[in-house]
Amino acid sequence: MSQNDPSGRPRMTTTAGAPIASNQNSETAGVRGPLLMQDYQLLEKLAHQNRERIPERVVHAKGWGAFGTFTVTNDISQYSCASIFSQVGKTTDMLARFSTVAGEAGAADHERDVRGFSLKFYTDEGNWDMVGNNTPVFFVRDPLKFPDFIHTQKRHPRTNMRSATAMWDFWGQQPESLHQVTILMSDRGIPQDPTFMNGYGSHTYSFWNAAGERFWVKFHFKTQQGHRHFTNGEAAEIIGHNREGYQEALFGKIEDGQFPRWKMMVQVMPELDAEKTPYDPFDLTKVWPHSDYPLIEVGEVELNRNAENYFAQIEQSAFSPSNKVRGIGYSPDKMLQARVFSYADAHRYRLGTHYEHLPVNAAKAPVHHYHKDGSMNFFGHKSGSLDAYYEPNSFGGAVEDPSFAEPPLRISGEAGRHPHQQQMDDYTQVRALHDTVLTEEERGRLYKNLAAAMEGVSDERILDRVLAHFDAISPAYGAGIRAARAEMAERHRHAAE
Ligand code: NDP
Ligand code: HEM
Repeated sequence: MSQNDPSGRPRMTTTAGAPIASNQNSETAGVRGPLLMQDYQLLEKLAHQNRERIPERVVHAKGWGAFGTFTVTNDISQYSCASIFSQVGKTTDMLARFSTVAGEAGAADHERDVRGFSLKFYTDEGNWDMVGNNTPVFFVRDPLKFPDFIHTQKRHPRTNMRSATAMWDFWGQQPESLHQVTILMSDRGIPQDPTFMNGYGSHTYSFWNAAGERFWVKFHFKTQQGHRHFTNGEAAEIIGHNREGYQEALFGKIEDGQFPRWKMMVQVMPELDAEKTPYDPFDLTKVWPHSDYPLIEVGEVELNRNAENYFAQIEQSAFSPSNKVRGIGYSPDKMLQARVFSYADAHRYRLGTHYEHLPVNAAKAPVHHYHKDGSMNFFGHKSGSLDAYYEPNSFGGAVEDPSFAEPPLRISGEAGRHPHQQQMDDYTQVRALHDTVLTEEERGRLYKNLAAAMEGVSDERILDRVLAHFDAISPAYGAGIRAARAEMAERHRHAAE
């Protein structure tokens, strides 16, 4: 039987492949009669609809993505033996997903928030995921505080609304967050679309080279489109008539052949320097100043192909910092180490046991392992031999290769819950950003954005506590926010009269 009907279009079938005679009418007892229980076509259609939604990501639920290419433009083999960097001109297929952090899957795209910046490189030695943000630092430095922090960004359990009180209560008691809060409340808090922002690996990762030397590394992805942002007012106006502005822009640009590009750059620190820097180089709330560790060019990311199916390729994409390849490793950053656990665990819940065999997540390099069975196993087993389902075996199954071993890392220290709160300088780098990097106009907008974000805080003591930290960062910073709050209160008074 031909698979097509006489007009050349494919025949519609059941999921079991049997052609369907009618997709317009349910099976009923007579024209006016009730349904027949045997109308499996109807039952299956309703059952499938009930399963169209999967759990949204617990954070970064709203996202936009596309496929692309990474091209090496500079030789960094002295730092890393990763195959992806092995030759200038080498290209690797990749996927990018951008996101907001706090909003649900239906959130408006132009909300003020940190943006996720996830990249999956399908390298010839396995997948390397760079799951970063559009900011070089993060709110907390200890993963024990991550769920608490996220609770303050999500809805209040009783009101089911987001709570400015919770946010500022938390930030005031975790002053290491004020570096990230400053960036979030600066112009960079609302990029016009994902092509107009930088990406950062944020954590310190590691490189090792063919001689087994280790380096600490920070990844930067510099937008080649330039930085463009919206103010709170402009964003509110856009959201009023278009909640999907990022999807429209990213999808539209790629359809039109305007392929967005980012330069991949790295800062590289020799392994032993980590003992000398005045800041903890593994503290995610800190950057490495460019003057100490200048940016080194690596290559270029270009996004040039839209997904054919958003759900299959973007919603079902699964990024994880645990996906690393030879030549690229972790670091002692506690946050990074917790993420090594958290993402794959989230994917098993959100997508299912064999999420890495879904086409968008599957490596393009050969995959051989001894995991067996489990829901959705459509590949049998992947040991490389039909009779080898354990290891070691005498039946030709896949074997380890010691040449992929990471050089050993020397660590020491007393096991314990070491308090870091009082030991760290949480002000100096924020002061540099406020006093030196931002222009006067940018500082003015920063104060206004902060004052707006503080509206609705129910307890003045919460604001006093956090303002004391802003004063300690820079007296001008605290004074600027207070002045902006006073101006806002004055405007509200006028409006009420
Ligand atoms: P530099 O003057 O060499 O670098 C300043 C950096 O600030 C540039 O990378 C610039 O990014 C970035 N920047 C400009 N405006 C903003 C903003 N509103 N929000 C976030 N970043 C912004 O100085 P240092 O390296 O000595 O760093 C000084 C301070 O700059 C740091 O304490 C940190 O707050 C901030 N910063 C530092 C980064 C680093 O990796 N060293 C990275 C990003 C910020 P671009 O070049 O893309 O415009
Ligand atoms: C998504 C946990 C810190 C960037 C997620 C998800 C979890 C998670 C569970 C959802 C994954 C999914 O369902 O697919 C954590 C934990 C952290 C942490 C436990 C700290 C201990 C960070 C940091 C960054 C980051 C520091 C950036 C530097 C992202 C991004 C996504 C994400 C970009 C979306 C990934 C995608 O596009 O699918 N995080 N996170 N997270 N996180 Fe984190």
